[in-house]
Amino acid sequence: MNRLCELLNLTFPVIQAPMAGSQGSALALAVSHAGGLGSLPAATLGLDALAAELQVLQGLGGRPYNVNFFCHTPPQPDATREARWNQALTPFYEQAGLAPPTGRATAARLPFNEAALAVLAMFKPPVVSFHFGLPTAASLQSIKAWGGKVLASATTVDEAVWLEAHGADVVIAQGWEAGGHRGMFLSDDLSSQMGLFALLPQVVRAVNVPVVAAGGIVDAPGVRAARALGADGVQVGTAFLWCPESQTHALHRAALASAQAHHTAVTNVFTGRPARGMVNRAMRELGDGQSCISPLAPAFPLAATAWGPLRASAEAAGSPDFTPLWAGQGAPHCQPHAAADLTRLLGEGWGE
Ligand SMILES: Cc1cc2nc3c(=O)[nH]c(=O)nc-3n(C[C@H](O)[C@H](O)[C@H](O)COP(=O)(O)O)c2cc1C
Repeated sequence: MNRLCELLNLTFPVIQAPMAGSQGSALALAVSHAGGLGSLPAATLGLDALAAELQVLQGLGGRPYNVNFFCHTPPQPDATREARWNQALTPFYEQAGLAPPTGRATAARLPFNEAALAVLAMFKPPVVSFHFGLPTAASLQSIKAWGGKVLASATTVDEAVWLEAHGADVVIAQGWEAGGHRGMFLSDDLSSQMGLFALLPQVVRAVNVPVVAAGGIVDAPGVRAARALGADGVQVGTAFLWCPESQTHALHRAALASAQAHHTAVTNVFTGRPARGMVNRAMRELGDGQSCISPLAPAFPLAATAWGPLRASAEAAGSPDFTPLWAGQGAPHCQPHAAADLTRLLGEGWGE
């Protein structure tokens, strides 16, 4: 028996990556029913919505599922930086005939906290995963006291060792190929980030807990490659964006199915933290000329506020120019599948 399946009580060592903003409990339910580990992203959920989604997942009748949180340190508000960012976005607003942003930024994504833990304690989810580090030792103790297993993302060998030392039961090795936010938390130096082929075997050697491979895996051959490099399982995000059970925005789906999927890049312009998405106008025009990173973006998650009205107006007109189109480098290789079929397809790749 695979040790990840044993630890988490799974049929397949396949984790559907939590994808805040692109899915809810429906996708998690379908994956967990099919024998993988479905994930509920909670980073953008209020407490009532979190409780409602966890209630839905009780329908799994004891099958495992995962709830995912961000663990970032909330930023110090910086009025000067926010004003500069408003100014950087002003030409886009003027061109769209909209009033430019002038207000202060608000944090739409809160880190894991006591209030979220209190909601979790009512439902006692079997698995809780974290991005950007781990919460306090006391929070981890509470989760483990009800039998919950703790997963967390590492983007370097140092982060993997740190996570194991601080109580993670499973380390997710997130390669540079991965869609969405880089889980990096010990360093913000992008040159420290590694491709999965290099990162995975080094993490496997450095820690004793099970290691899950994430980044660019979209099919059975990808799963086999991860297994050959020592992974105990895989975490797959982008391929699940195609599933009918996801809440992927129509413009995001259309971009995935287009030539745009061939060019992804890591950018900080949408939230203030590096994340991989399909290159669009916002990323191209706000980058520093060499990359899609802007030195002006306020700290995570404050860069997001100024985009609101522009993004809504562009989306209403059918344009994804200012929408974060998170996707990994495997995007052009994805096929549309129902979530249960994709889970089995990936899981059977493990066993072949
Ligand atoms: C649309 C999207 C949203 C994501 N949101 C989250 C999230 O809320 N929490 C998290 O831990 N990881 C998130 N990730 C990253 C995944 O955990 C994982 O590292 C990544 O999907 C793996 O690479 P792949 O997309 O190439 O399969 C997201 C990824 C995508 C594509």
